[in-house]
Amino acid sequence: MVKKVSIIGAGAVGSTLAYNLLNRLKLQELVLIDIYPGLACGIALDLEDTRGILNFSTNIIGSENYSDIKGSDIVVLTAGVARKQGMSRADLFKTNSKVAVEASRQIKKLAASAIVITVTNPLDVITCIVNRQTKFDRKRVIGMGALLDTSRLLNIIYKSCRILPSSVDAFVYGLHNKDMIVSTAKMSIKGQKLDKFMSKQSISQVPQKVQLRGAEIVKNLKTRSASFAPALSCSVLIEAIAFDKSEIMPVSVLLSGEYGLKGVCMGVPCVINAKGADSIIEMPLSAGEKKAIIKVNKFFQECMI
Ligand code: APR
Repeated sequence: MVKKVSIIGAGAVGSTLAYNLLNRLKLQELVLIDIYPGLACGIALDLEDTRGILNFSTNIIGSENYSDIKGSDIVVLTAGVARKQGMSRADLFKTNSKVAVEASRQIKKLAASAIVITVTNPLDVITCIVNRQTKFDRKRVIGMGALLDTSRLLNIIYKSCRILPSSVDAFVYGLHNKDMIVSTAKMSIKGQKLDKFMSKQSISQVPQKVQLRGAEIVKNLKTRSASFAPALSCSVLIEAIAFDKSEIMPVSVLLSGEYGLKGVCMGVPCVINAKGADSIIEMPLSAGEKKAIIKVNKFFQECMI
């Protein structure tokens, strides 16, 4: 049973996630941790003030001390720097990997049976670091990236053919970056191929629109990155765990031979329930998809030592 959720990083994603969780789950305790003095505490106080309207009994803690995550059922890692315009992948990795190593050490010490959800970018590499550092069962380290990309995909399909996402069977997998795999041939709307509802030209534009969506948002916001959709995707993932849903969601997990990859993380469809990413679903891949997956090893080699 999920009673206590801790969020490391009370920035844009972390604070929005906390607000979503208060709306969507009945938790005993919700903890926000941030190194910026007063930030987590201030956010916690503001969130507490929604009690009079939302009518919850959750105890909310905002602090700078990792000790407050003790005994958490779920820990979400959103700490680090968000990608800003012009920032290189290497710069982002350098800063955020240090945060992930420290957070993993604390999670291992204080919440050894927690399920860890990573949101910090570069998502798949950070998920891999948390796996290595905590040595938790890989089911309990889940990267939230492909789920967000899938929500973006469903929005793009909706805008092209005005069919609501609940009628669309489509998802994104692979890395949570511009090399993500958006395979329109695998997508359907109530069992029918996309070309029943969309022009061939619109279908051909879908992958690139999804792949560039994050960058499009950063380009507009300039000093920060997306927060509403990442936070909501993370809430939905937490609900699937809390309610033991066994729902299939694309999430980043450590692969050990699946999809021909070993020791690296990428988004793949998984059954999500109270155990975490309980099982990985292997899909048949086209020659083009197999080629795209080869890029995963290269990406990890570039990022990790
Ligand atoms: N421990 C705790 N908090 C930290 C640490 C640390 N070692 N390092 C940084 N932080 C905090 C910052 O003080 C900041 O409040 O993490 C927070 C990050 O918040 P934002 O800068 O608002 O970034 P956000 O948009 O929330 O994105 C967080 O999620 O989607 C990804 O790419 C995004 O990696 C980024 C992460």
